Amino acid sequence: METLLAKPSQDIVDRACEYINNKQVVALPTETVYGLFADATSSCACEEIFKAKERPMDNPLIVHICNYNMLTEVAAEIPEDALKLADVFWPGPLTIILKKSDIIPDAISAGLDTVGIRMPQNPVILEIISKTGLPLAGPSANRSGRPSPTNAQYVYDDLKGRIPLIIDGGSCKVGVESTVLSLAGDTPVIFRPGYVTQKQISEVLGKQVLLSKGITEELSAEDKVLSPGLKHRHYAPKCEVTIINASFEKYREKVLQDGAVAFCFEEYADKIDGQCVVYGRKGDSASQAANLFTALRKLDEIGANKAYAAMPDMDDVGLAVYNRLLRSAEFRVVNL
Ligand code: TXA
Ligand code: MG
Repeated sequence: METLLAKPSQDIVDRACEYINNKQVVALPTETVYGLFADATSSCACEEIFKAKERPMDNPLIVHICNYNMLTEVAAEIPEDALKLADVFWPGPLTIILKKSDIIPDAISAGLDTVGIRMPQNPVILEIISKTGLPLAGPSANRSGRPSPTNAQYVYDDLKGRIPLIIDGGSCKVGVESTVLSLAGDTPVIFRPGYVTQKQISEVLGKQVLLSKGITEELSAEDKVLSPGLKHRHYAPKCEVTIINASFEKYREKVLQDGAVAFCFEEYADKIDGQCVVYGRKGDSASQAANLFTALRKLDEIGANKAYAAMPDMDDVGLAVYNRLLRSAEFRVVNL
């Protein structure tokens, strides 16, 4: 299959709508990362998504909507808390898990009785959802296991020949995937941290919000997996990454001693006399989030075998950065 990589024009948007109406899959930009989208009401369209990215079938997909009417179509019930959050954070990087309606096929929910829903903040995808009138199922547009793509070229690198169209909307401004919050149980629980933080959600709801166990540690075989995405191998470059939790001096020494590539902050790179890949500014979690996945891919572009990542902050957006980095490091952390 030929894969067309094109900037969004009226003609290209119309073509994307046609593909979606024909139950095919297209890659589109969102404010978080690029996604691979298909008609969320069609089992066979959703199966095409799993095939294109070789995703395990037990990992459910997020459904993307463009208005509140669609929310009532895809969710069986809409708790007051969901509306409060949607009012503040949509369109934007927050996915809310609710009980699913009957129009959501099992292929999306991986057999669960819930569905993750989000209204993305990008004019192109909102126009396509609105024009087709269809909620769109969409995971990140990477090959399963690879870092999520934050620009159209990375989607092309992973999926060329597997999908007909990639719309190039430039670099994604958030850079890490949406916060995934479950409102399907008694207490709100964050399954995946993102740009919208635990503190922000808790403030809007005026109640406690929990963090799911697998966010900052590896789940053991006995742990009950509430969100399948927490257990799969994720975000890994070919290069072996290890997180080094240490002062700058000790970090620098360790990098030079072991001849590893320094995967670090801008401020560190200036002071390390060796190969460095920068993933943002020190103490600036938003810049680290925006650059993390690009930097992970850069490790492979320069042919690095072994990289030592400087430890990010773990509060607010930093938790999202740490969560992704920990998985790309396959949970290797060295404390010095
Ligand atoms: O920002 C984003 O969320 C991007 C863009 C494209 O919207 N999408 C994305 O999708 O990151 P994906 O499929 O790569 O990640 C979805 C995550 C997975 O960890 C999955 O297990 C979890 O959300 N998830 C989805 N539906 C769920 C459900 N019903 N219950 C529990 N976890 C769910
Ligand atoms: Mg993903």
